[in-house]
Amino acid sequence: MNMQRGQFITIEGGEGVGKSTQIEAVRDTLAAAGIAVLLTREPGGTPRAEKIRDLLLTPSDEPMPQICELLLMFAARATHVDNVIKPAMARGEWVVCDRFTDASYAYQGGGRGMSKSFIAALENMVQGEMRPDLTLLLDAPVELAMQRARERNAARGQVSDRFEREQNEFFSRVRTEYLRIAQVAAQRVTVIDAAQPLQIVERAVRERVSAFISKVRA
Ligand code: TYD
Repeated sequence: MNMQRGQFITIEGGEGVGKSTQIEAVRDTLAAAGIAVLLTREPGGTPRAEKIRDLLLTPSDEPMPQICELLLMFAARATHVDNVIKPAMARGEWVVCDRFTDASYAYQGGGRGMSKSFIAALENMVQGEMRPDLTLLLDAPVELAMQRARERNAARGQVSDRFEREQNEFFSRVRTEYLRIAQVAAQRVTVIDAAQPLQIVERAVRERVSAFISKVRA
């Protein structure tokens, strides 16, 4: 059997840009085209990586050194890539991941101000040559997105996680870094204006994914 490796699609953006809703639209568009999809997320996606996620997101009295945060992100990613993402792609499934290494550049690099060349070294060690084939970046002004994130947490009776407790200046740096990545990796990354009404955003997501499917199948 001529089994082709599956494609790797990631979805990125700051807090409150509607990633969880739009990732469903990505999944539905692929499924409607008869593609087997594995939906996953970072940090997390395996039992071990989900434990690391908990360490990363749960607020704690013990300060988290920046380097600890960055290494935990990549520790989770290493087990996720090797045990879930690569095997699924080898089986021919398409993997759709809620956040990936662009988030490390945006949050740890942009937000925290950590060295991008150090992040790049970790990226190479953990992933080898592997990079997403397509990335959708949901972009919205920080004020609007934070307002939505607060409303979502209130509706769910959730408290803010360790990242959501950051100030708007932090999220502005995250957004700036995401947009910089989108410029230098314009072939891979599509920016979608997430400030538009939900249905318009969803249509843009579906169109981009459909165009990508056609390109892969051509
Ligand atoms: P996520 O579950 O996507 O949060 P949300 O749905 O609230 O946007 O991601 C959890 C947090 O982890 C989010 O605040 C971004 C952060 N993060 C990093 O800082 N670096 C990374 O490499 C990843 C994957 C996530």
